[in-house]
Amino acid sequence: GPGLNLAAKKAGKKYFGSATDNPEFTDAAYLKILNDTNEFGQITPGNSMKWDATEPEQNTFTFSGGDQVLDLAEGNGQIVRGHNLVWYNQLPSWVTSGTWTNATLTAAMKNHITNVAGHYKGKVYCWDVVNEPFNDDGTYRTDVFYENIGIEYIAIALQTAREADPNAKLYINEYNIEYAGAKATSLVSLVQSLKAANVPLDGIGVQGHLIVGEVPTDLETQLALYASLGVEVAITELDIHVTDLPTTLPETAALLAQQQEDYQSVITACNNVPGCIGVTIWDYTDKYSWVPSTFSGQGDACPWDANLDIKPAYNGILAGF
Ligand code: XIL
Repeated sequence: GPGLNLAAKKAGKKYFGSATDNPEFTDAAYLKILNDTNEFGQITPGNSMKWDATEPEQNTFTFSGGDQVLDLAEGNGQIVRGHNLVWYNQLPSWVTSGTWTNATLTAAMKNHITNVAGHYKGKVYCWDVVNEPFNDDGTYRTDVFYENIGIEYIAIALQTAREADPNAKLYINEYNIEYAGAKATSLVSLVQSLKAANVPLDGIGVQGHLIVGEVPTDLETQLALYASLGVEVAITELDIHVTDLPTTLPETAALLAQQQEDYQSVITACNNVPGCIGVTIWDYTDKYSWVPSTFSGQGDACPWDANLDIKPAYNGILAGF
């Protein structure tokens, strides 16, 4: 195609990017498109920089998977979003099943951040330092970090990441904040209080796992609200799911057209907000999308189909920039 990253840059954005994952690197046809900087100026490792991948045993670090993604991106001249440092999910069992005090878990968390962000110091554009801290009702997720450290874990994580890699932009990344509501309101309060306390925070990541026909009409308003807090904003994990599969298979032209319109709406929202610096899709092809295995009956969420051919959604992205 004419190039999604080219279109994003022409519109004044920093990048258009894609998530990827190491097992996909054996697929030459897949890599050919991933490596094309006209399409993608940015890469996110879908799994290989997460805690379970990088510190499977306490204080034993494995960077091979993350390094492989970084090397690929560096070779192509693509920037990398580091994903992620602190998250309730994909934690090794020594974290989830450990017996912790505030002091011991704080030390373990700081050690994790110092080592992982330290290993990639100067090499990643940004880090999703804290991923998904809120429940949908706006309360804090009562994960192992919150339970043992309290909400201070967020400030400590951000400060530790800043010390480990002073040049990486530090993000909080969250989903279901694409529209106004309790979760979005809580995030805004958190960002305001972190800023007031001079805690280092540079960005809000809006994941963007959406449903065909249901793109929030206030997405642009929300992106502008977040940017008004004095941080940059990025759409970090965009995919727009077709639901009711396999009932809707084969996809009707109408569904694909709706998906095209939906992708265009999301890109337009980012495009209209100067503080929205880039968009990342959560892998570019239905061949490797996480959606079907995670959400029963959902799929076909990406701009390229499982044969690596572009879908109408691709043109929606182009039109949005
Ligand atoms: C997903 C990966 O894509 C899957 O391969 C893995 O099995 C589960 O995690 N929000 C996030 C991402 O922040 O890290 C998740 O990635 C998708 C939801």
